[in-house]
Amino acid sequence: ALVYSTSAFSRLERVGIRHPAPLPFIGNLLFFRQGFWENHTKLIKEYGPLCGYYIGRRMYVLVSEPEMIRHILVKDFSNFTNRVTPGLVNKPISDSILCLRDQRWKDVRSLLTPAFSAAKMKEMTLLINQACDVLLSNFKVYADSGKAFDIQRSYSCFTLDVVASVAFGIHVDSQKNPEDAFVKNCKKFFEFSMLRPILILTIAFPFIMIPLARILPNKRRDELNGFFVKAVKNMITLRDCQDANERRRDFLQLMLDARSSTNYIGVEHFDIVNQADVSIQHHKPPADKALPKKEQKTLSEDEIVAQAFIFLIAGYETTTSALSFATYLLATNPECQEKLLQEVDEFSEKHVSTFIGFIQFCSLHNLPYLEMVIAETLRMYPPAFRFTRETCKNCIVMGQCIPAGAVVEIAVGHLHYNPEFWPEPEKFIPERFTVEAKLQHHPFAYLPFGAGPRSCIGMRMALLELKITLLRILQKFKFEISPETQIPLQLKSVSTLGPKNGLSVKIVPR
Ligand code: HEM
Repeated sequence: ALVYSTSAFSRLERVGIRHPAPLPFIGNLLFFRQGFWENHTKLIKEYGPLCGYYIGRRMYVLVSEPEMIRHILVKDFSNFTNRVTPGLVNKPISDSILCLRDQRWKDVRSLLTPAFSAAKMKEMTLLINQACDVLLSNFKVYADSGKAFDIQRSYSCFTLDVVASVAFGIHVDSQKNPEDAFVKNCKKFFEFSMLRPILILTIAFPFIMIPLARILPNKRRDELNGFFVKAVKNMITLRDCQDANERRRDFLQLMLDARSSTNYIGVEHFDIVNQADVSIQHHKPPADKALPKKEQKTLSEDEIVAQAFIFLIAGYETTTSALSFATYLLATNPECQEKLLQEVDEFSEKHVSTFIGFIQFCSLHNLPYLEMVIAETLRMYPPAFRFTRETCKNCIVMGQCIPAGAVVEIAVGHLHYNPEFWPEPEKFIPERFTVEAKLQHHPFAYLPFGAGPRSCIGMRMALLELKITLLRILQKFKFEISPETQIPLQLKSVSTLGPKNGLSVKIVPR
């Protein structure tokens, strides 16, 4: 058994990649006990820029050099198409675009890409604004009390409301109605995915645990998945009975519209991140190819349910944390907050809308400083600070041999604090992201949403949500630190990056 448990551990060394001494079965898991955020940097300091580690028998290669990252994410994409998927995933998550592989991933990404276009995001503005109304009315109570409170909790209720509304077509106020079936099941869903002991076992013994986990009866998991699957399926039936113009315009509807598409969008048009950033635009607008009838791609009902889940898995924690981080940085950098408040006030004067407080989508590009604040927040605290690609075949990346099967991990946190690209990286300086400054950046030195064809498909949605929410809050309130505010903020980084103990701040009416 010991031979099996350690036999995998020579593969990194053979190609000259240094790593901490692995333990039998678990590899270097203990190195990351406290999370990955600081330990990436620790690993690079101790083992050099070309380093790696083992989790179970799987080898990881840590990459934080921009040109090498460009090679992996873009130039040699066909050899690095898939993310590494954790063992214990069941339907519906296993059907979601996050976990799909190779051709099936391409098909689904192609079908979903139009649903995340800028024009489609515009239709989400109303739904996000409605959830903001609820958030602001809940904030008023805290502002009137004059006391500090855990704003992260309010944000997490708010983003859940947005997910429910946008992806599942359900209207909830999770702060006021924590007993709502949807809210309760979401909480359970997250508690469930956090069952770490099982996860660790699975990582160490995929060959026994995965099949075992599949056959073990798990009532709770089945009930939970059943709830969401039923909710979405009921909604689909309802929508299909409705007239086209009666249907609620949300993401679920966009997906239903995309169920079968005659257009096939090629991989070269998947990269939303680079297309959205005009400063590094290389792409022509997508020229859709019509497919012959028999090659048309479609989404099954199960797959639609799975895609609704991506908002929960990929969009919920990340957006919640981004809002908390922006709040923390504004509260602790009052001069930046003042500058932003001024921009918000000028904006509000110019764009008085027919709805009180309602923000028009088209006006949102008139907020350059807010955009800079969000960009700098995501540099300092990128919620998705590590993501991976699996190496399909042995290959050489800028002189370095990477063996087939190795998992390449992009160390975004380390990259974002590299003083070569970001002088005084510990400082919050939104001016790093003026239009002119952005032109000077190395395009692969800043990756809060990843890059290349497999980058974040929800980036526009995330940025829209962050922008509207911060704007609506700052029209009415400002953030202040209190003695309860933890400075510097403690972080958790086992899965995504987030505040470890919530975020305690005061909000003050303006
Ligand atoms: C601030 C919020 C968010 C951040 C920081 C973020 C970041 C990321 C990152 C770094 C990746 C991996 C990219 C790569 O591997 O190159 C990713 C993938 C993804 N994100 Fe986001 N994300 C956010 C919000 C969202 C939202 C709201 C959605 C909504 C649907 C979403 C959907 C996805 C999906 C589906 C993928 C996988 C794409 C694929 O495999 O083809 N994300 N995200």
